[in-house]
Amino acid sequence: MSKPVEDPHPIVEELERMEEAVPERPEPDSPAGPVAVGDPPPPAVAKASSGAVPPTTPPAGEAEMEDAPAPAVKAAVAEERHSDADGAEPERFMPRDLLAPSRHEVVVERAEPEVPVKHAEVIAFANQKGGVAKTTTTLNLAVAFAESGYRVLCIDLDPQGNLTMSQGIDPDKVEKSLYDVLVHDMPISEIIQKREIDIAVASIDLAGAEIAMSTKIGRERSLEKALKEVIGNYDFVCIDTPPSLGLLTINALTAANKVIVPVQCEYLSMRGLVQLQNTLKMIQENLNPEVRIEGILPTMLDSRTVHAKEAVEILEENFGELVFRSRIRKTIKFAEAPVKGASVLKYDSASSAANYYRELAKEVLAHESAQ
Ligand SMILES: Nc1ncnc2c1ncn2[C@@H]1O[C@H](COP(=O)(O)OP(=O)(O)OP(=O)(O)O)[C@@H](O)[C@H]1O
Ligand SMILES: [Mg+2]
Repeated sequence: MSKPVEDPHPIVEELERMEEAVPERPEPDSPAGPVAVGDPPPPAVAKASSGAVPPTTPPAGEAEMEDAPAPAVKAAVAEERHSDADGAEPERFMPRDLLAPSRHEVVVERAEPEVPVKHAEVIAFANQKGGVAKTTTTLNLAVAFAESGYRVLCIDLDPQGNLTMSQGIDPDKVEKSLYDVLVHDMPISEIIQKREIDIAVASIDLAGAEIAMSTKIGRERSLEKALKEVIGNYDFVCIDTPPSLGLLTINALTAANKVIVPVQCEYLSMRGLVQLQNTLKMIQENLNPEVRIEGILPTMLDSRTVHAKEAVEILEENFGELVFRSRIRKTIKFAEAPVKGASVLKYDSASSAANYYRELAKEVLAHESAQ
């Protein structure tokens, strides 16, 4: 790997090759895991999935959800529509229907931070697998930091614009977005909007950014360069990435000093994590020697199933200390909050769902103070 960074396609080609080997991401509505047909699960995973799945008692507090999350969102929206429209047939669900009224004047109460952050921590939330709670974790951990008094910027680097939407902003109506920053070198301060946290927004045209940037010199460092303008204003920069290892994710990993990897316990795939580690190794060798995995986060944990418990055990056996102690359990709150254009911490501040991310924030801050 002695090629200079600015060579055409030094790392993107390799990553694209790897990406081709990655199984398709699941359809949003599909409860089936993303394991390719004919692709035998790794032995560790096979062990997890072969276990019986007896129901166990859900923990005290809010009810955990059994359905796949996307239908739950649809159901929530359809229910709202019914009550609004006097039993009229609900219209077809559109993602932009999730948008709550604009929330320009959000005032977030801030405490004094307990652990001082010496320089901004830039955390990328990455996993090339779709639907593992990258966006949910980016937003809710970011808001948990903000609640503790830290200055936080979120960056929506996913063309799906889910993070942007979950702060009540319609990516279809955004005029200036990360596309302009990455492709046309627009100052990032021009696209930051103030909500629960500050957010650098995505728009639908971000999908074309990878191609538009492909001939740009230093294309892997576009985000890192853009962040220099504002980095002094923040303690944490939280970057949501798309479910792929393309140029947008490479930009995130190049700009970051830490990576948090959310992993959905039910659909655990060691191969995916190993692949992500290999990508990170390449980034470390070629672009960003500082970046390291801050932790692997078990998400959507259904503690009623033996399968989920075994999946976490397997994760710990394979990745040891890298696995966070915090657990994000499955609850309907995480599907409901984006409908209101809010984090779970704002939507239901007293819920255990909100506390899962407060606990995670404490764990990340404990690492910070131990450094
Ligand atoms: N702990 C949880 N319990 C229940 N549902 C959850 C939980 N975390 C996230 N979800 C729901 O799961 C779905 C996928 O989550 P999210 O969008 O955060 O994943 P993602 O990894 O960002 O997906 P993508 O790869 O498409 O960007 C969403 O509908 C979200 O509301
Ligand atoms: Mg996402």
